[in-house]
Amino acid sequence: MPYTVPKLTDYSAAALEKAAGECIAACAGEAAEVHSDAELKAFRDRWMARKNGILTQINDLWLKGAPKEAKREAGIRVNELKARITELVESAHIGGGNSDSLAADRVDITLPGVKRPIGAEHPVIKTMHEIVGVFQKLGYSVAEGPVVETDYYNFEALNFPPNHPARDTQDTLFIAGQQSKPQRERLLLRTHTSPVQIRTMEKMRPPLRIVIPGTVHRNDPPDASHSPMFHQIEGLAVDTNITFGDLKGTLDHAMKALFGSSVKTHFRPSFFPFTEPSAELYVTCFICGGSGKRGADPCRPCKQTGWIEVLGCGMVDPNVFEFVKDNGYDPRKVSGFAFGMGVDRLALLKYGVDDIQLFFQGDVRFLQQFG
Ligand code: PHE
Repeated sequence: MPYTVPKLTDYSAAALEKAAGECIAACAGEAAEVHSDAELKAFRDRWMARKNGILTQINDLWLKGAPKEAKREAGIRVNELKARITELVESAHIGGGNSDSLAADRVDITLPGVKRPIGAEHPVIKTMHEIVGVFQKLGYSVAEGPVVETDYYNFEALNFPPNHPARDTQDTLFIAGQQSKPQRERLLLRTHTSPVQIRTMEKMRPPLRIVIPGTVHRNDPPDASHSPMFHQIEGLAVDTNITFGDLKGTLDHAMKALFGSSVKTHFRPSFFPFTEPSAELYVTCFICGGSGKRGADPCRPCKQTGWIEVLGCGMVDPNVFEFVKDNGYDPRKVSGFAFGMGVDRLALLKYGVDDIQLFFQGDVRFLQQFG
C-alpha cells in the first residue's frame, strides 16, 4: 500500500512523533525502490511537488488543521520532518539504498582510469631553469623584480643619464599618460633585467651573488628572431675583491656546464653604461662545433663564423655603486661583475627551432614535443 498522509486528530507529542516516523520510513522505503531516471523523477514529484506533493499535503492536513494551542509544537515538528524528507529525496539515486542489486551502480576498479595529460614545461622556461640551476650550484640565489618599472631603475640608476643617446638602443615601451610625473618616476616596461641589480642592492648588503630571471619588453616588431616580449637572465656578483678574471672564469664554467665541456669562450670589447669595461661573450657554435660548416653547407645559426654571441657582461661601473652606496656598496671598497643573456635565443638554438613566434603562440601541437 503506498503511503498516504493521514489526518491527525491527536496532536500530542507522542502522536506527532509516531506520524512523522511513519512518514520518514515510507519515504526511505520508496527511495530504495528507485531504479530508473523516470522512477527517480516520479519519486521526487510525489514527495516534493508544490501542488499536492506529500510535503504540501502535510502542511495542509497537519498544520492548518491543528488546534490553536497545538500549532506551535506541530509547526516545529513539521519543519523537522520536512528537512528530513528533503534530505532523503535529494540524496535518492538510481539503484536506491540497496545499490548492490544494480551492476550499473558499481565501480569496476580493474578498469583503466581516466588519463589526464600533465602539461609539459615550456622550452623557454626549461632553458631558464637549466641556466639558473648552473648558477645556483655556484652559490647564487634567485632574485626577481617588477616588469613595469620606473625610469629610475631601468635607466637612471644604471648610469643612463636623462636624454643620453644610450637610451635609444633599448627601444623602450613607455606607459602612456606619465608626462605630469618627474622623469625618474615615469613608468615603462623594463627593457632588461638589470634594474633588479639596483633593487636587490638596495635591499641586501654585500657580498652578493644573484641571478635574476624574468620577462622584458622592447618595441621590436615580431618576426622570426624578434618578439616584443622575451626573457633574460641577469647575474650579479659583488664582493671586496672581484676581478675580470672572476667574471671570465665564472662565465666560462657556466657555458661549459650548459653547452658541453668542449665549448670555448671568447670575450669581445663592448659598451654598456652600467659596466666598465664591458664585453660580449661568444661561445663556439654548438651546432657546427666552431667550423662554420655543416657538412658541405654553411652553418646558419652562427652565420658561418663558428661563434655565437650569448650575452653582455662587464665589471659593475662605480657610478652604479654610487646609487646604493649607503647600503654598503662604497665603490672604493667593493667591486663586482654583471652579465645578462637572452634566454629565448638560446632555447631556439638548443632545440633547433627557427621561429621565435612559435614559442609564444601557445599552439599545443608545437609545445607537446617538449613534454
Ligand atoms: N642589460 C644588458 C642588455 O639587455 C645586458 C647586460 C647585463 C650587460 C649586465 C652587461 C651587464 O642588453
